Amino acid sequence: MGWFSPDIQTVEELFLHNLQDIYYAERQIEKALPDMAAKASDAELKKGFNTHLKQTKGHIKRLDRAFKMIKSIPQGTKCPAIDGMIEEANEIAGEVADKMVLNAALIAAAQAVEHYEIARYGTLVSWAKLLGRPNVAKLLAMNLKEEKATDKKLNGIAKRKINRKAAARKRSKPDEIERAENAFLAATSGIPAI
Ligand SMILES: [Fe+2]
Ligand SMILES: [Fe+2]
Repeated sequence: MGWFSPDIQTVEELFLHNLQDIYYAERQIEKALPDMAAKASDAELKKGFNTHLKQTKGHIKRLDRAFKMIKSIPQGTKCPAIDGMIEEANEIAGEVADKMVLNAALIAAAQAVEHYEIARYGTLVSWAKLLGRPNVAKLLAMNLKEEKATDKKLNGIAKRKINRKAAARKRSKPDEIERAENAFLAATSGIPAI
């Protein structure tokens, strides 16, 4: 990049940049979803994450095709937004002890990612049409449709059961924790618990 010539000067270049951005994001999501599925203790949520992992692999394939259609090499460009979202999800998941509260946290993190993808694909579809690329727009709209459906599905699981179950969980009282610790020490040392 020269001092007086920024890298992105046209909508076409902006389109390519955003295509590379979502390509990078999809690949990071592909890496993160197995971990999210492993952490989910609700069977429906776990299945949902695994289904979306398969869809995500399909999204990457469609993006590969979109790159080829505009005669570009499929490649990603670092997207700090998705990196931050995944990092935040991992951090929060590491801090939640209760399994049901963790399910609620996983849904919230996954929906943030879906909303990001929806925003990106929505823009890309509009720009592809604007640039006279209806076939590329059609391909990207297929990804957009699946992201929206996933977001709706996650919303349904959260509203139908997870959020209510998570909200019913209470924080363990300090004396309960102490009693449990004493019982554990007694059991392992052979000394009767007081
Ligand atoms: Fe996706
Ligand atoms: Fe997605």
